[in-house]
Amino acid sequence: MTDRELIDEVTGRGYAVISTPVIADDPFEAHRRVAQSLGLPDAYTPLLYKDAEVRSAVSQVGPYNEIPRDTTSVQPWSEMPGQSFHVDGLLEPLGGIKTTLLHCLNQAHSGGETELFFSCDAFRQLLASDEDAAQSLLHPKALTRFATISESTPTRLHATGPAFGWVDATLTTRFSDGPTEHWNTSENPDLQRALDYLRGPARETHRVQVRLAPGEMLIFRNDRVSHRGCTYQNGAHPRRLTRSMYSSAPRHNSPHS
Ligand SMILES: [Fe+2]
Repeated sequence: MTDRELIDEVTGRGYAVISTPVIADDPFEAHRRVAQSLGLPDAYTPLLYKDAEVRSAVSQVGPYNEIPRDTTSVQPWSEMPGQSFHVDGLLEPLGGIKTTLLHCLNQAHSGGETELFFSCDAFRQLLASDEDAAQSLLHPKALTRFATISESTPTRLHATGPAFGWVDATLTTRFSDGPTEHWNTSENPDLQRALDYLRGPARETHRVQVRLAPGEMLIFRNDRVSHRGCTYQNGAHPRRLTRSMYSSAPRHNSPHS
């Protein structure tokens, strides 16, 4: 696949999976090479990692992360819980992180898929069937996300905003729905109907699971797609992924690239 075809696939479908070798000396070199071929800028450090207290609590606070952060205490054959759907960038406004790369170094013994939820497609469908419910997701106080690594307060480590909206004329999402989220349904009664749809019927038709093999990389549009890591069991060696994030979407470097 050429760079142009790859960019078109990520732009059109919201994600793509490629094979790119793991470079033993530097597990993030593959990210730099792929980012360059996608026309992405330097990797982006999320706002959460710029907080002094979070920086002291978490060892990895740059734009490149290992998942899990520390594998030294992971027991062989241990089970790991799944995540809730989210977009990367807990404190970012809509569209703050547009692209995420996930590279598989070691696969889980079983499970460990990345599940993508095409939340913008689901939103469009809701807009056609229940406009009031869809509009409630655009409310500027619809969704609050807050940190649990360090204590959040109304003035720090939390971010309130719309769950969907248009950024640069592109429908954009920060749909996330787990232990770090609060939905403001009390001031916004149509929102509960929207949530019932997004948590129920929408999940049946707007999702796909990707199980990365070692050396495979998932590229997805974090501003258009929500995602979660599924439950897994480690093998004799821990499952390991690397991640990087970018504030821009893939784009062609030149008209002829
Ligand atoms: Fe994530």
